Amino acid sequence: MTILITGGAGFIGSHVVRLFVETYPNYHIVNLDALTYAGNLENLKDIEYKSNYTFVKGDITDEGFINDLFEKYKFEGVIHLAAESHVDRSIKDPLAFVKTNVIGTMVILNAFKNLWKNNFDNKLFYHVSTDEVYGSLGQTGLFSETTSYDPNSPYSASKASSDHFVRAYGETYGMPYIITNCSNNYGQNQFPEKLIPLFINNIINNKPLPVYGDGNYTRDWLYVKDHAVAIDLVFRKGKNHETYNIGGFNEWKNIDLVKLLCRQMDEKLNRPKGSSEKLITYVKDRPGHDLRYAIDASKINKELGWKPSVTFEEGLDKTIDWYLSNEDWLHHVTSGEYQSYYEKQYSH
Ligand code: NAD
Ligand code: TYD
Repeated sequence: MTILITGGAGFIGSHVVRLFVETYPNYHIVNLDALTYAGNLENLKDIEYKSNYTFVKGDITDEGFINDLFEKYKFEGVIHLAAESHVDRSIKDPLAFVKTNVIGTMVILNAFKNLWKNNFDNKLFYHVSTDEVYGSLGQTGLFSETTSYDPNSPYSASKASSDHFVRAYGETYGMPYIITNCSNNYGQNQFPEKLIPLFINNIINNKPLPVYGDGNYTRDWLYVKDHAVAIDLVFRKGKNHETYNIGGFNEWKNIDLVKLLCRQMDEKLNRPKGSSEKLITYVKDRPGHDLRYAIDASKINKELGWKPSVTFEEGLDKTIDWYLSNEDWLHHVTSGEYQSYYEKQYSH
């Protein structure tokens, strides 16, 4: 079986690619990635010479190129992760999100449909999406697979749109698909613009920790390797035309999470207790900031037996250790384009 994984040089994608390449020597895994600021082949150094792995550099919005790639490899399965993924960037440049997340998904869907036409036997288009499509919860309640879509940011609107197109291709052309909507991931190889790696990097460098608004926003955090395991399980055992929510059963208010991170970082860096907390700085809130996300992951748990394997404290501990022993990686990804992004985002 030849499987296309898009966005495999990014954060979650690199964990998915590694899991598939290592677990399934009989599958040929093709990783297609444009290597934007968020894509980094250093994430996959350990598997790049495996015989069942091929990397292809290319843009999912490039129709001719994508159609040729599908003709060449005859992908029987697609796991689609390539996307612009950061809410703050979507606020500054929404069109880039429509191009990659909506048009790019359409190009991949079309190529898959045109390749297999009316014979989709044993084929699958797996679309990796986010819980942010459901909008914001109040203080109570959970997102389930039947919660209505109500996206608030250009990022979540673009992901919602791509989910709708995947479903439409399923209904209209009989294309086999599965969608998963997952909560916030954390772990090794996450680009330091998202909360946890940004704050780890800033603590290492004694820089301010910019907490948006009052810090009382809640997210449900999942260790990235547990997400990769869920993706593998759903790809093999999930039901055609179904959606599964994936979450960590692990809600944290941002400010409580940041304080836990500060305590763990003080210990790891042998700094006096309380040093990292002194870096906390409340800054202007994100426009349209969703108050709370929390996932009801009982469907995937009951039907496929999936549940997270690590506690948040364990996952965070592994994550911090990885960043502390991979300062070269951090240094490489935080030079160049990152610097100008950082100045623009946090200058006010
Ligand atoms: P990421 O930003 O770390 O990686 C995205 C990857 O896609 C990068 O390697 C980038 O080079 C590639 N890419 C971007 N535009 C491309 C294009 N036009 N053509 C080809 N490749 C392109 O993102 P991530 O955090 O790993 O998220 C992966 C997927 O999972 C996304 O679809 C995202 O919406 C979804 N998701 C993320 C989270 C999370 O917490 N990070 C949670 C739920 C769902
Ligand atoms: P983020 O990691 O960007 O994920 P998302 O917006 O997709 O949930 O942000 C997680 C939470 O942390 C969110 O409530 C915004 C907040 N946040 C800050 O307070 N400061 C920051 O510098 C960043 C990047 C995020």
